[in-house]
Amino acid sequence: MTSSQDEHSKLDAGVAHIARVYNYWLGGKDNYAADREAGDQAIQAYPDLVSSVRANRAFLARTVRYLAGEEGIRQFLDIGTGIPAANNTHEVAQSVAPDCRVVYVDNDPVVLSQARALLTSQPEGATDYIDADLRDTQKILAQAARTLDFSRPVAVMLIAIMHAIGDEDDPYAIVATLMDAVPPGSYLALSHVASDIVPAQAADMVRHLNRLMYEKTTPRRQADVARFFDGLGVVEPSVVRVQQWRPDTETEATTPSNMWGGVGRKDRGE
Ligand SMILES: C[S@@+](CC[C@H](N)C(=O)[O-])C[C@H]1O[C@@H](n2cnc3c(N)ncnc32)[C@H](O)[C@@H]1O
Repeated sequence: MTSSQDEHSKLDAGVAHIARVYNYWLGGKDNYAADREAGDQAIQAYPDLVSSVRANRAFLARTVRYLAGEEGIRQFLDIGTGIPAANNTHEVAQSVAPDCRVVYVDNDPVVLSQARALLTSQPEGATDYIDADLRDTQKILAQAARTLDFSRPVAVMLIAIMHAIGDEDDPYAIVATLMDAVPPGSYLALSHVASDIVPAQAADMVRHLNRLMYEKTTPRRQADVARFFDGLGVVEPSVVRVQQWRPDTETEATTPSNMWGGVGRKDRGE
């Protein structure tokens, strides 16, 4: 596919796209009939899907709060931002420390068109938005350096995006390149669609999504998600169902999900 065909496909309201389908599952209004059709077929295959998406969004907020609050992180590189929703990364981070600096990255034109909602930084901090594909790590790192100081710790947020990278694009190398670019004391926070939590339902859901959606989903096993943290010190409770990662309430802890998630720290390698 040429890049102009690629752009055309991305803008086509007649084909479902993950950013808009995810917005539909979250109860948003930025989606078209094709997105709702794909979203509904996926829910039929896996009825806990809306809970799962909410549990993922809650995981995002808890990891940001943990990183800013308990680990003193002040810089975030959030790749696969999604259409702005409640508790965007900079809102959570700056509610803990107003001087947090957050760079958002997504390749979806609808997210780009709404980026203004992500550029509402507290005056003490900063936010920026980069229109880029996760596979173009050099572009992301070069443009992120306008806002982030790569000599100081950065939290790389890859929340519900790595399953959009198939094995042919070497997702592990992409994460390794990003983590190589940040100094010791930096973190990786990652969540990922599972193939081994509710295997039959997940397979059926992914089959529907991959038939109807432009971006293809590759669900992975817990052990394969844990591999993204190779070389990092994985923070307790390790790579778990997202609702079981340091839940704040019993309700959060028991919300069903089909996502693995975890946080890892880049140490000095001594
Ligand atoms: C499921 S949403 C997750 C949104 C948010 N991170 C969250 O967890 O609430 C995935 C986002 O990743 C973006 N995305 C998917 N593949 C991408 C790629 N190759 N490069 C950049 N963004 C991508 C989509 O456009 C979408 O906005």
